[in-house]
Amino acid sequence: MVVPSGVKKMVVVAMASSIIAPHFGRRKLTTVSASLSSRLVPRPLDLVSWVRREGGFVHQSLRIGSGGHSSTGLDLIASEEISSGSDLIRLPTHLPLSFDPPESARDGSHALLIELASKVPEELWALKLGLRLLQERATVGSFWWPYISNLPEAFSTPIFFSGDEIKNLQYAPIVHQVNKRCRFLLDFEKVVKQTLEDVSFRNHPFRGQDVDASALGWAMAAVSTRAFRLHGKALPHGSKSDIPMLLPLIDMCNHSFEPNAEIIQEQDNKSPEAIVKVVSKEQIQRGYSVLLNYGDLCNDLLLLDYGFVIPENPYDTIELKYDGVLLDAASMAAGLQSPNFSSPTPWQDDLLRLLNLEGDGADLKVTLGGPDVVDGRLLAAIRILLGNDKDVVEKHNLSTLQLLSTKAPLGLSNEIFTLRTLIALCVIALGHFPTKIMEDESLLKGTISSSMKLAIQFRLRKKTLISDVMRELTRKVNTLSNEKGANSA
Ligand SMILES: *[C@@H]1O[C@H](CO)[C@@H](O)[C@H](O)[C@H]1NC(C)=O
Ligand SMILES: *[C@@H]1O[C@H](CO)[C@@H](O)[C@H](O)[C@H]1NC(C)=O
Ligand SMILES: *[C@@H]1O[C@H](CO)[C@@H](O)[C@H](O)[C@H]1NC(C)=O
Repeated sequence: MVVPSGVKKMVVVAMASSIIAPHFGRRKLTTVSASLSSRLVPRPLDLVSWVRREGGFVHQSLRIGSGGHSSTGLDLIASEEISSGSDLIRLPTHLPLSFDPPESARDGSHALLIELASKVPEELWALKLGLRLLQERATVGSFWWPYISNLPEAFSTPIFFSGDEIKNLQYAPIVHQVNKRCRFLLDFEKVVKQTLEDVSFRNHPFRGQDVDASALGWAMAAVSTRAFRLHGKALPHGSKSDIPMLLPLIDMCNHSFEPNAEIIQEQDNKSPEAIVKVVSKEQIQRGYSVLLNYGDLCNDLLLLDYGFVIPENPYDTIELKYDGVLLDAASMAAGLQSPNFSSPTPWQDDLLRLLNLEGDGADLKVTLGGPDVVDGRLLAAIRILLGNDKDVVEKHNLSTLQLLSTKAPLGLSNEIFTLRTLIALCVIALGHFPTKIMEDESLLKGTISSSMKLAIQFRLRKKTLISDVMRELTRKVNTLSNEKGANSA
């Protein structure tokens, strides 16, 4: 039995150049007025019957419907109580849709599809598989039509936001990613046109149909919101690991960090191909949705790829750029006289190099929030730069200095200034958002578009995350100050 790897993470690392959102409008990819819950065709085929007819299994108490916590789309709901450890769905090997069509179905158009896919950067793997999806969507009598006809007509991912809605995310790393994706889709529309200009109908991967940026965006979103990356080892044709594929019906399961079901890849003795199935991990009450864990994802990735955010997301973080000038400003705001963040001594510099915050190829992206509360490298750097006694610093190893749980490794007053500097950094970060938490909260109560609502929820979560970090650090400062007072008394 092979368990799929941390399901479907996209390997996009946002560049945190600053936390100020650039203000520029863009062309909206499409003007979808469609409701997010409408299917591609008004009367889609019966997906459950199709899976069963093709030799798959669907638990008798599962139905497709609108889930408990949201009305934005359809998911899988238990119509009766389902016990823990039950098989919920089992897909035969020919149902998942991956980039490579079966040998028998390859024609002249396959080479062109590969050529187009080769022009898509790896980080946009969803668009690669999306091209294949568009091919099947354009194919009359496609084997996957029962699946495709059930796909949503529209998606809530931010590539479909208007320029104003994107601006309202107020957070540079995600604004950068969204704009990058939109720009790529608009450019890729031209590549598709050029590549397919003189191609005969027979060899045309999209059966002669025009594929524009909005069709490409639909396909990319259809894949990024639904695809799973499964272990390739168990897959046919000796294919490599982590193959993204669309899993009909299974992909209707929504996400939770506390899932009640999981995906399992099961090797059948008789065949080299793996069967993909969903099994309940606990009892699922009547009326509850089947939920899978998509991975330990921050809200940036959830919004970009799936089109939703989780308010109490324990994996959400805020990105900052490690910058001596900014840290000097923060520690002066914290009451320090002459901080040396922009002019470290040679031994401090050496340690910054070890932390990969200095030198060629340094990674200056640091984070606040998430399970660690403060990025270990950032914490160690501040402790070190505020610790002007080389011998005291070098008594500790770098891993100890990176833990917030290590109690005042360089002394009480070093620790208090370190934490105050971090708090001041939070204040600066909060100040970069054009609106305050309370304003966002009241905007959310008004009548706004669903995309605007998502944008505001996203930035609101970033701000509450910063204030949560501040509260936590303040609590620590207070404890330490009390101790310091007690010591000197
Ligand atoms: C999936 O779950 C998320 C987070 O709970 C929610 O925002 C979203 O609307 C859900 N989607 C559907 C289709 O119910
Ligand atoms: C900065 O460096 C100067 C000169 O080495 C030193 O006197 C001062 O204490 C340092 N400041 C801090 C906050 O460590
Ligand atoms: C660092 O110190 C801690 C505790 O003192 C120890 O457990 C750990 O192994 C050390 N790590 C290295 C890399 O020396």
